[in-house]
Amino acid sequence: MTITIEPVKPLIGARIHISRDRLCDDDVIETVRKVLEERHVIVFPGIGVSDEEQLAFTDRLGDRVNFTRRVPGSDASAQDVYKITLDKELNFEPDYVYGTFFWHIDGVTMDIPLPKLTVLSARTLAQSGGATEFANLFAAYDLLPVAERHEMEGLRVLHSLEASLRPVYGHPGQERLERWRTMTAPMDHPLIWNHADGRKSLLLGTHADTVIGMPSVHGRALLWRLQQWAAQPDFTYRHDWQPGDMVIWNNEGTMHRVHPYTDTRRSMHRTTIAGAERPGHPASADAIARALIPAD
Ligand code: OGA
Ligand code: MN
Repeated sequence: MTITIEPVKPLIGARIHISRDRLCDDDVIETVRKVLEERHVIVFPGIGVSDEEQLAFTDRLGDRVNFTRRVPGSDASAQDVYKITLDKELNFEPDYVYGTFFWHIDGVTMDIPLPKLTVLSARTLAQSGGATEFANLFAAYDLLPVAERHEMEGLRVLHSLEASLRPVYGHPGQERLERWRTMTAPMDHPLIWNHADGRKSLLLGTHADTVIGMPSVHGRALLWRLQQWAAQPDFTYRHDWQPGDMVIWNNEGTMHRVHPYTDTRRSMHRTTIAGAERPGHPASADAIARALIPAD
């Protein structure tokens, strides 16, 4: 049976309309892999998967990993399906969910191979808000003026937990930071990620704190400008969730965020496919010191 692939925007997004009993068929899996390379985000409108079906699909694409299993506040019974919700019964500490309101790449501040793919299925929609946006970081690199790409060559960036929590809490406080530190590490990543297949993408997000070896004010100005550049409409796709939708994205070459919501009924089930590449490594004490250079 032919699989119809509907492109969504010129540089990002595709829709595939299939029933959930077809999801793990060889031709579907092969198509998903291929389409993700080019389109980065695939929507399966209204497919309505169960956790078992979502996990079976996840397993067909690689090794599953639940990098947020130890997130403070998350449901310990969640196993390999992470439940994203502001419902206090399921998640007593909203830090991680609030963090998703800001552009990010999953798993960047952990000392693990960067997660390759993320699968998210809608279980209960928010009354308002809750759309998820994706930005193509390959296009954001490719379409930068050549002179700027040259200037950025070789730059290293400190990605930190503090930077991800800053927009949520201002000063998160020692106790909260200690809880989070058990599962995260300050990471030293290249600004331009040279992927194993030879392609290049920007490695950006709210967790990108400062450029190592540059006065913080200059480093942050560069990172914020690049984040704005990468989030321009041509490079992004916004998904307004409908009941039963499932989305899979290439976490290695996109950043994403969710439009803020307060509805505690919103519930999304997430599974993650492990990656094989480590663009960076834990930051040394020296790199951290050189990432926090005050202005003259
Ligand atoms: C996440 C995430 C987006 C959403 O859980 O990492 O980014 O729409 N979620 O809830
Ligand atoms: Mn995320």
